[in-house]
Amino acid sequence: MAIERQTDPRPDRIVEPVVSVDEDKIEISLRPTNFKEYIGQERLKNNLKLAIDAVKKRNDGTTLDHILLYGPPGLGKTTMANVIAHELGANIRVTSGPAIERAGDLASILTNLKDGDVLFIDEIHRLRRAVEEVLYSAMEDYKLDIVIGKGPAARSVRLDLPKITVIGATTRTGSLAGPLRDRFGIIHRLEYYKEPEIEQIINRTSGILNTKIEPEATKLLATRSRLTPRIANRIFKRVRDYADVNGDGIIDLRIAEDALKMMEIDYLGLDPADRNMLSLMVSNYGDRPVGLATIAALTGDEPTTIEDYYEPYLLQLGLLERTPRGRVVTKKGQEHLKNNQNMV
Ligand SMILES: Nc1ncnc2c1ncn2[C@@H]1O[C@H](COP(=O)(O)OP(=O)(O)O)[C@@H](O)[C@H]1O
Ligand SMILES: [Mg+2]
Repeated sequence: MAIERQTDPRPDRIVEPVVSVDEDKIEISLRPTNFKEYIGQERLKNNLKLAIDAVKKRNDGTTLDHILLYGPPGLGKTTMANVIAHELGANIRVTSGPAIERAGDLASILTNLKDGDVLFIDEIHRLRRAVEEVLYSAMEDYKLDIVIGKGPAARSVRLDLPKITVIGATTRTGSLAGPLRDRFGIIHRLEYYKEPEIEQIINRTSGILNTKIEPEATKLLATRSRLTPRIANRIFKRVRDYADVNGDGIIDLRIAEDALKMMEIDYLGLDPADRNMLSLMVSNYGDRPVGLATIAALTGDEPTTIEDYYEPYLLQLGLLERTPRGRVVTKKGQEHLKNNQNMV
């Protein structure tokens, strides 16, 4: 089941939620396929390696525990799901919460899988209730309960399902139903990357896309990438275009600086939309907390976009704070806005 993607509504955003069709192609080409190529997230990799080795060693038909990966977009959840399947030597079937409309859709996906296969469900927090129910028994006892017939004649039948591993990905565990969460044996949060790891990712991308980048330029881009591989790759591609047009195609420090200036990405990696959101909050509410819906109304974004895409990194940097009564721009955030003039 292909996940439908829209074309990019605001191609200028570096934190763009929607992955455009073209970008999707490049993302796939840049996607690490095994643990060795997957940079960073060492703790997760070590845990998974152990679990996978154990399954392989037992070789008695038991499958890998179901795995839930959560964390902000672009940190490598989808990539990791594919790596896990690869390392297991298993087939992977990819779908997403919103793509599975009815319980019957999930039932047909499940019955078409084989023992040992991996089912990756992206945005698993967006599964419908009725679909979730089917998933429970599939995950717990590899069974599918179906009702045959209607009214008083209806009876329920239990079918055996293949022994699969479900990998779920979500940007928020908070919105995941407790019973669903409980069915995952391995639950892991993906962390923001360290700058040297982002540098490695940029260098790897430079090799794959066959575009030279100088070490100082790599360092600079790494500081602007919000510690997020997807954003590092997006910025890299934009800077590469800039280098092709305004230079000889090699990304040196000057080209990198000029391109970042053009994109208005500041030294913390914020883009105009982030700064716009923060300054709207400050100019309208000052130090007072602002509700999510109000922020969304101010910027014209969906509340979920703010929660999933703008906010995590701003919170991580300490520019924004979440309080029970809403979001507040911190002192540090306000200072950052004041310095804004000479930083891009
Ligand atoms: N650990 C990593 N090492 C190298 N590249 C990575 C890594 N994690 C993610 N990427 C790159 O970032 C892109 C986005 O990752 P993805 O797995 O789609 O993120 P998520 O599913 O968490 O939103 C991938 O296409 C890949 O090129
Ligand atoms: Mg993903």
